[in-house]
Amino acid sequence: MEQRSGPFPSQGTMIPDHATIPTFGHLRVLSAFIPKGGTGKSTFCQHVATVLAALGRKVAVIDTDQQATASTNLLDLTMIPPSRKRSIADVVLDGVPLIEAMYQAKPNLWVVPADKRVNEASDAITWRLREYTALEKQGTPVPAKPDIIAERLAELQTTISPPPLRQPPLLLPPLFQITSLKPAGRVAPDQILTRPDFLDYILFDHAPNPQSLGQLCLGCSDEIWVPVLPEPQPIEGLLQMLDLVGKLFVHATHKPVVQGIIPSRVWHQVQVHNSLLYFLYGRFGAAVTRSIHQAAEIPSAQGEEPPQTAFEFARSSRASKEWVEIALRIDGSSSMLTNSPECRTCKQIQSEATKRAAEERAAKTPHPAS
Ligand SMILES: Nc1ncnc2c1ncn2[C@@H]1O[C@H](COP(=O)(O)OP(=O)(O)OP(=O)(O)O)[C@@H](O)[C@H]1O
Ligand SMILES: [Mg+2]
Repeated sequence: MEQRSGPFPSQGTMIPDHATIPTFGHLRVLSAFIPKGGTGKSTFCQHVATVLAALGRKVAVIDTDQQATASTNLLDLTMIPPSRKRSIADVVLDGVPLIEAMYQAKPNLWVVPADKRVNEASDAITWRLREYTALEKQGTPVPAKPDIIAERLAELQTTISPPPLRQPPLLLPPLFQITSLKPAGRVAPDQILTRPDFLDYILFDHAPNPQSLGQLCLGCSDEIWVPVLPEPQPIEGLLQMLDLVGKLFVHATHKPVVQGIIPSRVWHQVQVHNSLLYFLYGRFGAAVTRSIHQAAEIPSAQGEEPPQTAFEFARSSRASKEWVEIALRIDGSSSMLTNSPECRTCKQIQSEATKRAAEERAAKTPHPAS
């Protein structure tokens, strides 16, 4: 097995040791995934998609969770004419092209909604895979492994143009104020059926339980971003996820890379949050992003009618700025916010954990003379 020099373990799961700078000119496919509920996957998709769209990127969120949190928070589903209403379940069960299930929610932001048939769609994938495996075991010549998501994504890329080579945030100076970034709000109802001419990003919002649909979406993803609440169960979910992804893609030619672990809903008054943040920084180093702290604005914004992100609801709040910083990191931008919502406690925990991890590595490294 490949030996890694970085702070990270595990079975074929790739975590870059350093934040990598993305290249553009191709569609980037990201998954928000951790097999634990309520850690911030849908919040990640809603905020990152809204901010990237405000930065000038074109983004589609594909909701793969029956709860349809991201779909209903981003999009007014009642505005879609019933005869044109499609979901990710229709894509899987009936082979509907992704572009036909894509609705514009905000300028530059499209959503493929989930609905109650997602679990049925996932079961259908399981059956197709079982049939394939049974035929393969019998030695019957079989076509390629069925992968409806890869097929529909490949079809989408023949339908739309590749994204242009450009480096947004288009007009952002190296240092900018949050007020210079403007949320655009929802599109008018007559724009909802306007399809994208190209996309810079696809974001898959995953269900908390790993299921067949989710596995196919992970397999099509270039990057996995993991919002993790620093509490024992979500951390266990993170470790399970790394193991699962490592095993699932151990022989795959295309492996999703765990590109970022985002400490979410961090609340320093809770001692276990601080201990587990220390663990995350020590174990995963530069793959751990800045934290998103516990913030009343996030649920309040989602409770608005129509639901909003913190970026739209309270643009100058810490929560809004924190999500903007995450989106900038994802986009590989070197622009920075004036009055960055840096957190001294996070910085101190990060610096102590990093120092300790470096000391431990040095202690384990055999001395050349020994
Ligand atoms: N930073 C935050 N501060 C306060 N509340 C938050 C924060 N981030 C997310 N929440 C709230 O936590 C709840 C769970 O978030 P979210 O729906 O994004 O999690 P999830 O991982 O998608 O859950 P599920 O696994 O059920 O799909 C939501 O009610 C959301 O408003
Ligand atoms: Mg969710």
